Amino acid sequence: MERKELFAEAVKAAEMSYSKYSGFSVGAALLTVDGLVFKGCNIENASFSLTNCAERTAVFKAVSEGYMNFSAIAIAGSSGGDFSKPCYPCGACLQVLSEFCGDDLIIILSDGEYKLSDFLPKRFCEESMK
Ligand code: THU
Repeated sequence: MERKELFAEAVKAAEMSYSKYSGFSVGAALLTVDGLVFKGCNIENASFSLTNCAERTAVFKAVSEGYMNFSAIAIAGSSGGDFSKPCYPCGACLQVLSEFCGDDLIIILSDGEYKLSDFLPKRFCEESMK
């Protein structure tokens, strides 16, 4: 799947955003190695800290359906419908992604293509506890 197509899926996912408190809509489109796309949006809560980011929604949807191998994720965020400003993934989402993805996971934002290791060069993981 083309980079632009996956980003367009992330923008589409943001349409479902439940973000009445921040007014900031985020969508994520997670591509599995077999070419499936799992979309996710941010889901806020009146108890603010219970908010779930778009990326984690997409990861949890995929893993709960039995998919754990991913090649790319596109992320789009906007407060007024303009998705041209890059929406960088938060630290919590990077950590969750790192559980299932290697350093070379491609992260597609409005300003280009990155790798997971660009944002999270070192990570806490299973090996850290041995
Ligand atoms: N948000 C995401 O969905 N993903 C991120 O990586 C950063 C932030 C959401 C959470 C909240 O609903 C809104 O953006 C403002 O923080």
